[in-house]
Amino acid sequence: MSVISIVGAGHVGVVYAAGLAELGHRVKVIDVDAKRVAMLRAGRIWFYEPGLPELLARGLARKRITFTTNYPSGLARARFVFVCVPTPTTADGSLDDSFLRSAFANIRQHSTLPRPIIVNKSTVPVGTGDIVARLFEGDEIHVVSNPEFLAEGRAVEDFFHPSRIVVGARSRIAGEAVAALYGPLRAPVVQTDPVTAEFCKLSANAFLATKVSFANVLSRIGESVGVDGEALAKALSLDPRIGAGHLRAGLGFGGSCLPKDLAAIEQLARRFTDSSGFFAAVASVNKAQRSRVVDLLLDRFGAIADRRIAILGATFKANTDDLRDSPALYLARELAELHARVVVYDPVASAQLRIVAKELEVARSAHAAARGADVTVIATEWPEFATLDLTAIRRAMRGTLLVDARGLFDVASAHQAGLDYFSFATAGVRACIADELVPAVAS
Ligand code: UGA
Repeated sequence: MSVISIVGAGHVGVVYAAGLAELGHRVKVIDVDAKRVAMLRAGRIWFYEPGLPELLARGLARKRITFTTNYPSGLARARFVFVCVPTPTTADGSLDDSFLRSAFANIRQHSTLPRPIIVNKSTVPVGTGDIVARLFEGDEIHVVSNPEFLAEGRAVEDFFHPSRIVVGARSRIAGEAVAALYGPLRAPVVQTDPVTAEFCKLSANAFLATKVSFANVLSRIGESVGVDGEALAKALSLDPRIGAGHLRAGLGFGGSCLPKDLAAIEQLARRFTDSSGFFAAVASVNKAQRSRVVDLLLDRFGAIADRRIAILGATFKANTDDLRDSPALYLARELAELHARVVVYDPVASAQLRIVAKELEVARSAHAAARGADVTVIATEWPEFATLDLTAIRRAMRGTLLVDARGLFDVASAHQAGLDYFSFATAGVRACIADELVPAVAS
């Protein structure tokens, strides 16, 4: 059992706190936000993450987790300090490292002897670990880079079943001590230096982004030549060299991680290689993908001013309440800018939407959103949308078009309900083989 301090009670910090407590460690979480700290002490989590409230409750009941705003008490007797603060992107595209700087300054000022090992989990520009280590030189504090690979919505599962643990340390002893914390998880461990560990994180997210854009380009080609996208995804994913994850065509990737890390790696590629175009293409496919539903609706209706459009789902993906850089919300706003009457429903983010997206009408249920709609768009793959009664949706609507941007249904069930259907995942069903392609294939 170790005493571990965690700086930052965000998505990553709280999952690690509850997870490490479950592994038997004593965890002290420090956050500057007193309101957040009070909520967490009472077992209430300020964001949506399945399974986390139960895990936190267990840690609190066993008295293995405490929350504080006070650095000295939060750092007292800690053998490890995990830094889990946000590093958001600013309006000009650069990284805002102010939370990180402040966390390091506070740790330096308030940690006591014997000095803890600092474990950085915040996503940082490559090289940060070594820069920070120099800051602490002479203080006998080791800085270890230990990137997190938790996906929102399945973070608890990812914590207990990690595909790998990456530990970047200049000191072998410090690296091994950090790896030992995760011993019970029996995950493969990659021991390396901090620069490589930081680059592993960027590379993994850039690869996932590339896969999503690849799937979206395939879906566009498939739409023209009549490919059944679902069968294609299955055939590809059964090849272990390709793998099943991140092959779903849809509205493109969003959230706070893939876009940010793709931009970071593109910058590195621009600076050190002549291949930045590779990552730029991934980003540009993603940008275009976001507008495909708008293009489709403009094609279909000419103008969409005053058309009533129901958008089901606003978060950047299912099982999270995170609206950051959400393709679904982007779509809703783009349609609203074109003067469509947009009504959004999201299973968990409705209250937030009323605050951050005042220009949008927010409905209380999927059916309420669809009432009187010319078009219904499934924009986030929430499980409750997969079980929607399409006949009831059709009855509620004025029009007949269902745009299933997340591929939850198939053309047969949509037609059975009397709906016209478009989906990126099963794009082939819309177009069939284009007439002009047949002679080209025959010759
Ligand atoms: C991502 C990584 O998956 C995590 O491993 C990593 O730890 C995390 O970033 C991070 O850096 O902290 P996350 O951003 O939560 O996790 O979400 P993903 O599940 O990767 O999805 C990202 C975006 O890609 C979403 O908008 C999602 O809808 C989209 N996506 C994903 C697709 O369009 N198609 C797919 O097949 C998969």
